[in-house]
Amino acid sequence: MRIGIISDLHIDRYNNSVENIPLYEEALIKETKSRNVDLLLIAGDISNRYDLTMDFIRRVSKESNTEIKFVPGNHDLWQADITEGTEAVLERYTRQPECLIKRPLIINDEWAVAGHTGWYDYTYASGEFTFERLERRAYYGGTWQDKNHIAWRYNDAGMSRQFSQAVRGDLESLGGRKIILVTHVVTNKRFRVPMPHRLFDYYNAFIGTSDFDAIYNDFPVHYSIMGHVHFRHSLTEGGITYICPCLGYKREWRTDDIGTEIGNAYYVIEI
Ligand SMILES: [Fe+2]
Repeated sequence: MRIGIISDLHIDRYNNSVENIPLYEEALIKETKSRNVDLLLIAGDISNRYDLTMDFIRRVSKESNTEIKFVPGNHDLWQADITEGTEAVLERYTRQPECLIKRPLIINDEWAVAGHTGWYDYTYASGEFTFERLERRAYYGGTWQDKNHIAWRYNDAGMSRQFSQAVRGDLESLGGRKIILVTHVVTNKRFRVPMPHRLFDYYNAFIGTSDFDAIYNDFPVHYSIMGHVHFRHSLTEGGITYICPCLGYKREWRTDDIGTEIGNAYYVIEI
């Protein structure tokens, strides 16, 4: 079985316009067909809006004739103006059949896919900052934008803990199958931005979580697919292959061509 993986498409950020979304659809459909995959996993940050994200998933799935499973990223959970708690937005995604949260996909007797957005717990920042300083989510004249578009009931570390516990519950239901885990935030410190770094000594706080360390000890995770950090990288450590297949923003690309960049970010695992 061939499984395509990609993350952080940000389809509404190309020249900050929704008009370019068809270009992303076309490119992802073409890549998915040509790689001949049976399933496509998307590790979050498709867009900044619930409706755009779900429409995109459904069109790409239909036109490529390929099943898609995804987890929402922090951007997918954004509201331009916050009118409801982010729990309500997450719940809307969770009810969709394509969403992996609370709905792991059993592939066969041997393999299953599980996933969650996950959340950052500030443990990836440099030790020089206090929790209170990190909680201000503002540094060097910049603001971490989740502060303006996300409103959880509990603090970030509390959300991280809650989500990792939810994943543990999902994994317990999989009967010892080998697991492909999909999260949006990073769950391995080797994927944070190398420090010392002028900005990321601070901003690494919002990149990843340590709450999955115990999950990797307790469950047979073979692949961990992650997004959020906008670089493309993979490594194998302790029998687990971690893959970050991020497309990222246009300004981060090496070329101007969506097709080329999606082709470069797209990764296929065979099981
Ligand atoms: Fe992103």
